[in-house]
Amino acid sequence: MTQPPAPPTPTRPTTGRRPAAVLIGFMGAGKSTVGRMLADRLGVDFIDTDIELVRRTGRSIPEIFESDGLEGFRTIEANVVTDVLDNHGGVVSLGGGAVTTAGIREALADQRVVYLRVSPDRGYDRVSGTDRPLLGTDDPAARYAELLAERTPVYEAVCTFDVDADPDPDAVADAVVVQLARELM
Ligand code: S3P
Repeated sequence: MTQPPAPPTPTRPTTGRRPAAVLIGFMGAGKSTVGRMLADRLGVDFIDTDIELVRRTGRSIPEIFESDGLEGFRTIEANVVTDVLDNHGGVVSLGGGAVTTAGIREALADQRVVYLRVSPDRGYDRVSGTDRPLLGTDDPAARYAELLAERTPVYEAVCTFDVDADPDPDAVADAVVVQLARELM
């Protein structure tokens, strides 16, 4: 008699909870602000993986870049993000570069992923004057536009849908709610 195929072995421990939505996008897209508003509207918890990473390590992001370099930061980030995706049932926002890690892209494959698409001018306006180690000090505006162009195809490849993130965060959160409702119909 033919045996039924064995169920797949889970590779990561999980609580079986699934985020209501995962927000991705470049620095300045408004992931944290919109994420908090979206969680409010949906009546669920919100977690920002950058804040969670700082909480767990007890170090700021610039400090981690300084001591562990970009690669070290990505390793810590991957651990935090995959753990949060496995255990958080609310809205999750990821750091802008999280999608550059293959393991994170894999973990996002079965999630509802919302790409907040920001224009270079609007996004840079929002981050200028903040401490963003990846933008350097030479010409941060140019570096911002360059990195955004490089990342855009990756965001597009992993998202379930995208939303224009140039308007004010309230309007963006409303647009996400509308689109999520459509996805669930
Ligand atoms: C990064 C974005 C930052 C933070 C880190 C690296 C990136 O997050 O994770 O500085 O590679 O784009 P935000 O997108 O929340 O600013």
